[in-house]
Amino acid sequence: MEKIKKSIVLIGFMGSGKTTVGLKLSWKLRLPVEDTDKLIEKREGCTISQIFEREGEEAFRKKETELLKQIAGSRYLRILSVGGGTPVREENRPLMRQCGTVVYLRVRPETVYERLKEDSSRPLLQCEDPLERIQSLLADRREAYESSADIILDVDDLDSEECAEMILRRARQI
Ligand code: S3P
Repeated sequence: MEKIKKSIVLIGFMGSGKTTVGLKLSWKLRLPVEDTDKLIEKREGCTISQIFEREGEEAFRKKETELLKQIAGSRYLRILSVGGGTPVREENRPLMRQCGTVVYLRVRPETVYERLKEDSSRPLLQCEDPLERIQSLLADRREAYESSADIILDVDDLDSEECAEMILRRARQI
C-alpha cells in the first residue's frame, strides 16, 4: 500500500470534485478524509446555507479560518478538502500549507455549471445567472488558488480515479 509523508489538502472551486477525489485518495492511502464544510455543519448543527442566511458570509469565513487553525495544529495524516472560498482569505493560505501538500483541482466554468445546475446547496450560486457568477468568481479567485497550490491539476476531462492517480504520482515527486 502506498504511503505519503504529508497530508493532502484539496482546494478548488465548487464542483471541482474535491469530495469525490478526496474519497478516492482516502481509500487508496487508507487515510481518513475530512471536509471543512462538513465539519462546520456538524459543529454548528446546521447547513452551510443556513449559516449564510442567518449569520452572513463573513461569519462563515471566520468559522472556516478558526477550524483551519485547529487542523493546522494537529499532526495526524489525512486527506482534507476545504471549501471553494477558503484560499481567498490570505490568512488561510499558510494555514493550508501547514496542513499538508496543497492540490488545486482546476476546472472550467462550463464544467462547474453543468455539474451544479440542479444543485441548491451552494448559496453563492443561487442567482439569476449562475454561469456568469461562476465565471466571475473563478476569475477573481484564480490567483488565490494558483498561488496556494503545490500541485495544479486540470480536472475537466478526468474522472475521480484518474485524478487520484495523478495526484499520487505528482505528490511522490515533491
Ligand atoms: C463556497 C464553497 C462551498 C462552501 C460555501 C462557499 C465558495 O464549498 O464552503 O458554499 O465560496 O466557493 P464547496 O467548494 O465544497 O462546494
